[in-house]
Amino acid sequence: MPTKVTLIPGDGIGPEISEAAVRIIDAAGADIDWERHDAGMKVFADFGKPVPDSLLESIRRNGLALKGPLTTFVGKGFASANVTLRKELDLYANVRPVRTLAGIKSRYDNIDLIIVRENTEDLYSGIEHIIAPGVTESIKVITALASERIARFAFEYARKRGRQKVTVVHKANIMKVSDGLFLDSARKVSHEYTDIQFDDCIVDALCMKLVMTPERFDVLLLSNLYGDIVSDLAAGLVGGLGVVPGANLGDKCAVFEAVHGSAPDIAGKGIANPLAIIFSGILMLRRMGKDDIADRIRNAAFAVLKRGEIRTADLGGKATTLEFAEAIVREL
Ligand code: NAI
Repeated sequence: MPTKVTLIPGDGIGPEISEAAVRIIDAAGADIDWERHDAGMKVFADFGKPVPDSLLESIRRNGLALKGPLTTFVGKGFASANVTLRKELDLYANVRPVRTLAGIKSRYDNIDLIIVRENTEDLYSGIEHIIAPGVTESIKVITALASERIARFAFEYARKRGRQKVTVVHKANIMKVSDGLFLDSARKVSHEYTDIQFDDCIVDALCMKLVMTPERFDVLLLSNLYGDIVSDLAAGLVGGLGVVPGANLGDKCAVFEAVHGSAPDIAGKGIANPLAIIFSGILMLRRMGKDDIADRIRNAAFAVLKRGEIRTADLGGKATTLEFAEAIVREL
């Protein structure tokens, strides 16, 4: 019996890159029955909300989704479909492995970071209001429950994967109450994991240290906003947004997606790099217990990258999204 997986093609470059990923995952013999669903601006007019109930039901039923990026309008419009999905499904841990990849030119050759981002609260609570004309307020929600839960996730992840150190990232020198709670929660949980080193770093200093000596870091534990920003910075250390995958994990279901957005500047041109969503698909296959297929796809992608003849524009090549995907399929 094929395994049912929810597929959200997404907006902008989403349909192009998700089609490429599906082509490769199917060609590798993963035996998946994809249930396609739209979200965000494509459905808002019909359903009056960015995430229809039928999509949430599909993910809850299947337990797994592969997702393309969804556009969120700047400064106006409906609440982010991405944030809504994460909250509705309680996908509290956003895990983003950031690694130097053979065949991809970058400034460093030894990066192996895991970003663990709390996915359900912080300034993404969506509680914003106008107090008076010209005066606004956004509420940063940090709870002990969510902070300890994500800290425990980071330490468990570190222990299971043989990682050495967890660094909690904060700005508790300024936000003494909210970031102070995030930091204290991580510190409290760290006492349960004496086999894993633990330290902390203020977010601005972290950005400088990541650019200068990224090899000093192992697992980074961040609240929602810092996790979002530092993920893009870290992607820039290993070749850009086109190559970094992600997993939104909860206790009951998981949604796999690239770190990047819908890239409106290149949408429709067929030139986007599909690697980040392909690598996200590999993370999904591992969660499904299909490690052999995940390894085959990874090896095929690395072989194509190492040869260097076929690559997309962001990596200095001329290949289209589908040409790159077809090269991986041929390698398989
Ligand atoms: P973006 O990640 O879409 O693009 C930033 C830059 O990276 C652009 O120059 C783009 O062309 C390039 N880029 C991104 N992915 C690429 C790929 N696969 N191949 C080659 N180049 C790539 O960020 P931006 O422009 O800030 O956001 C655009 C939209 O995406 C916004 O509506 C935003 O809210 C949404 N977004 C959605 C996310 C999600 O669905 N999880 C995550 C981030 C942003």
